[in-house]
Amino acid sequence: MKAGNSNTLVVVGCQWGDEGKGKVVDFLARDFDIVVRYNGGNNAGHTVVIGDEKYKFHLLPSGSIQGKRIVIGNGMAVDPKVLIGEIETLKAKGIDPKLYVSDRAHVIMPYHRLLDLSGEKKSESKLGTTQRGIGPTYAGKVNRIQALRMADLVNGEMREKIRSIVRSKAAELVESGIIKSKQGAEDYAGEMIKEYSEYADKLRPYITDTVYMLNGEIGKGSKVLFEGAQGTMLDVDHGTYPYVTSSNSVAGGVCTGAGIGPGRIGKILGVAKAYTTRVGEGPFPSEINDKKGDMIREKGKEYGTTTGRPRRCGWLDLVVLRHAGMINGLDGIVLSKLDVLSGIGKIKVCTSYRIDGKVVRNFPAYIKEVEKAEPVYEELDGWPEFKGTRKEDLPENARKYMDFIERETGVPVTMVSVGESREQMIVINQ
Ligand code: GDP
Ligand code: IMO
Ligand code: MG
Repeated sequence: MKAGNSNTLVVVGCQWGDEGKGKVVDFLARDFDIVVRYNGGNNAGHTVVIGDEKYKFHLLPSGSIQGKRIVIGNGMAVDPKVLIGEIETLKAKGIDPKLYVSDRAHVIMPYHRLLDLSGEKKSESKLGTTQRGIGPTYAGKVNRIQALRMADLVNGEMREKIRSIVRSKAAELVESGIIKSKQGAEDYAGEMIKEYSEYADKLRPYITDTVYMLNGEIGKGSKVLFEGAQGTMLDVDHGTYPYVTSSNSVAGGVCTGAGIGPGRIGKILGVAKAYTTRVGEGPFPSEINDKKGDMIREKGKEYGTTTGRPRRCGWLDLVVLRHAGMINGLDGIVLSKLDVLSGIGKIKVCTSYRIDGKVVRNFPAYIKEVEKAEPVYEELDGWPEFKGTRKEDLPENARKYMDFIERETGVPVTMVSVGESREQMIVINQ
């Protein structure tokens, strides 16, 4: 029997992000008391559509609209300016977020953003990052001596800490053109202290020890939903390294990124698009480079929520989905954007790769092998456009598509999303 707490649920992305996690979390949040983000920062872009209103979240959990308590976990990298902006946007829409920000979360500084940018310019193999300072902030966290946490922001040592970090980074800042000379370091630190003191004043009421708060709530029987950002293939350990983000986006990230013991984790749901998309650089074996790819991009409005970049589109990749099923220990798959495939004719599904003439079913660790991987496809019949949100409304071939995914991954499809609005969701079983 599976251990774990039936009051907690994790929602993760199965592919390279943008699977529709925001919509799924908003839909499920109704039945939870608290919604928690545990990894990443404002590299994420989660869209929730309710009626005519479109909400775009980068840092705040997508449970915000349901009026639930929301948590920015310790595993996150937080840009205070963006966070304050999101709080204000929500307030302007009449929602006062019940927000708790971890005092252990790391703070993104202006030089992190600039180093992200200059790192990409200098590098021979561009990653295509979101340029939000994510990589440099997590690098600073692991490096330990040049990092600032939320707790530092609100205690009396923030000034001295910023001065000391800038002094120790002065050579790097000069080399990257962020400051002109080492003498400019003091002025640069002074400007940041002024800016960040204002942020600290605004955020102070929200900053708290969320690890004790969450464990206390779970102990009392509160229902807690964890919202992953990015996707399994962007996880720093289990994705297409080095073309990944800098945090653990998989379900295991909840343990470290929110401070929750593994035994307290209940069900785990993976959101998978009915096809595949990827933003930024890196190998993508089932990428479609013809008109059908363009058709899917336009019909699925596949343009980034964070950067507006066109998303690369491809067929569903079951090597990826099996990998996600294993790494996350998935209990169920939420198949999203099924409507986008309606009426496009025959549908291909990648079931394995051919690498140097060999058929491979497991996702390779070595990036050069992934780059060489040729998709082995199975072709399935498509289905016409359809309306309705009951199980019975699904066309027969759409059901066959779901059955095929279940058989190949060994994970049941428990929900199907058939449109961007909250109501356009078919619950198969929960
Ligand atoms: P996330 O990062 O995983 O939360 O996903 P994004 O919000 O970045 O991208 C998903 C996009 O697809 C958003 O614009 C959603 O509004 C939209 N979307 C979500 N589910 C569906 C669906 O089932 N059908 C369609 N057509 N759009 C959807
Ligand atoms: P959500 O939560 C899609 C990608 C970037 C780049 C790589 C590294 O909306 O699914 P980073 O800025 O994190 O250092 O960039 O990761 N990336 C995402 N792609 N959805 C996301 O988030 C992403 N967050 C990062 O495009 O390839
Ligand atoms: Mg997104």
